[in-house]
Amino acid sequence: MNEVVLILDFGGPYKELVARMVRSANVFAEILPGDTPLEEILKIDPIGIILTGGKKIDAAKCNPDLFKTGRPFLIASNENCVAENTFHPESVQTKDGQLFMRNFLYDTCGATGQYKLKNYTDSQIQKIRQTVGDQRVLLALSGGVDSSVCAAILAKAIPDRLTCIFVDHGFMRHNEGDEIEEIFSNRNLNFIRVNAAERFLKKLKGVTDPEQKRKIIGEEFIRVFEEEAKKLGKIPFLAQGTIYPDIVESGVYGTMVKSHHNVGGLPENLDFDHLIEPLSMLFKNEVREIGRRHLKLPANLVQRQPFPGPGLAVRVMGEVTREKLEILRMADFIFREEIEKVTARPSQYFAVLTDTFSVGIKGETRTYDRVVALRAVKTDDFMTCSAFRVPHQTLERAASRITSEVPLVSRVVYDVTSKPPGTIEWL
Ligand code: XMP
Repeated sequence: MNEVVLILDFGGPYKELVARMVRSANVFAEILPGDTPLEEILKIDPIGIILTGGKKIDAAKCNPDLFKTGRPFLIASNENCVAENTFHPESVQTKDGQLFMRNFLYDTCGATGQYKLKNYTDSQIQKIRQTVGDQRVLLALSGGVDSSVCAAILAKAIPDRLTCIFVDHGFMRHNEGDEIEEIFSNRNLNFIRVNAAERFLKKLKGVTDPEQKRKIIGEEFIRVFEEEAKKLGKIPFLAQGTIYPDIVESGVYGTMVKSHHNVGGLPENLDFDHLIEPLSMLFKNEVREIGRRHLKLPANLVQRQPFPGPGLAVRVMGEVTREKLEILRMADFIFREEIEKVTARPSQYFAVLTDTFSVGIKGETRTYDRVVALRAVKTDDFMTCSAFRVPHQTLERAASRITSEVPLVSRVVYDVTSKPPGTIEWL
């Protein structure tokens, strides 16, 4: 990428919003920690630098030599600054924020606007061909947006040498495993489904800690791949649909929020020679646009709401058991069915099985069963979100159906927490 604007992160939730805003103005933006050594910054040779922080950038942590690099700066109190640190051009509430950013990029930094997703896709295809040569690639296909777009890029780059393995870990939603099999086994790639539910459940027996769950699932995932790969002969390349927020949020630098399983869960002794991650510099909206506009994937696949790699295992509180998964699957299916009758859709919506029991009445019998929580959020970037205002009738219908159709559920509650301080998933 020739033209880069560097976003130096001094904490706070705004870095991704700023980066997406810069990219939407056709300028590539990269996020690095605030204490990145000067030599590294100079190697990248950015056309401009944006300092982002929480409420206030801690000037004491800022290397003063940064300001001697002659690069234009945004959002810092310094003589070189073009804005005060209370200004948030990335916020939709800031009047003319987009225009302000464009002026900074094009007038102050002299950007030429080379960053286009079509070019990015073409360059990734070229890069994959060069890297892979005449060898073969194994792709972890989950059926989600990221791995599906990744599959489509790889299929375009090396159609005859791509094998997609779908590990059904048993934590998929209702009917999902079969649907994924149907979509991908009819495409021009080698599709293998591995039913591994038993071994995943066994590994998670007694495990309640969220991070441990994620790590175990991530590791087991890779083990299954290794085994399948062995059956297929030597496949040196493993592909993954890792996207930029996975990396930024996984604490590869900065503060770890939670380890997204396709990054933090990777064991060190990975039995593949190389890892291919063509989407690793992209935000979700960019992945969707590439899928829809440049790879012509079906809209329902590309618009699919995100689903975490560890699946329902991070939506079951406490130990994951077959029975709890079954309860959650049914409750989640009902909630999604009810939400899908409403015209305005949340960005992500699902059920969570809590480990709380409550008293209820079914018929004339007193029950003491589980509490199901419903979550629906509105977000553009999944970095921040607000609770979606689901019509009350929809919530009531979902609650009534869940408590009557799903055994062992006595109560349904609705989660109204925004992110921050909550995260979208409960674990
Ligand atoms: P959080 O819970 O961190 O989630 O607010 C942000 C978005 O990421 C999804 N998510 C994951 N995606 N692997 C993934 O590929 C994971 O381990 C994972 N955990 C959370 C989550 O569903 C939301 O859309």
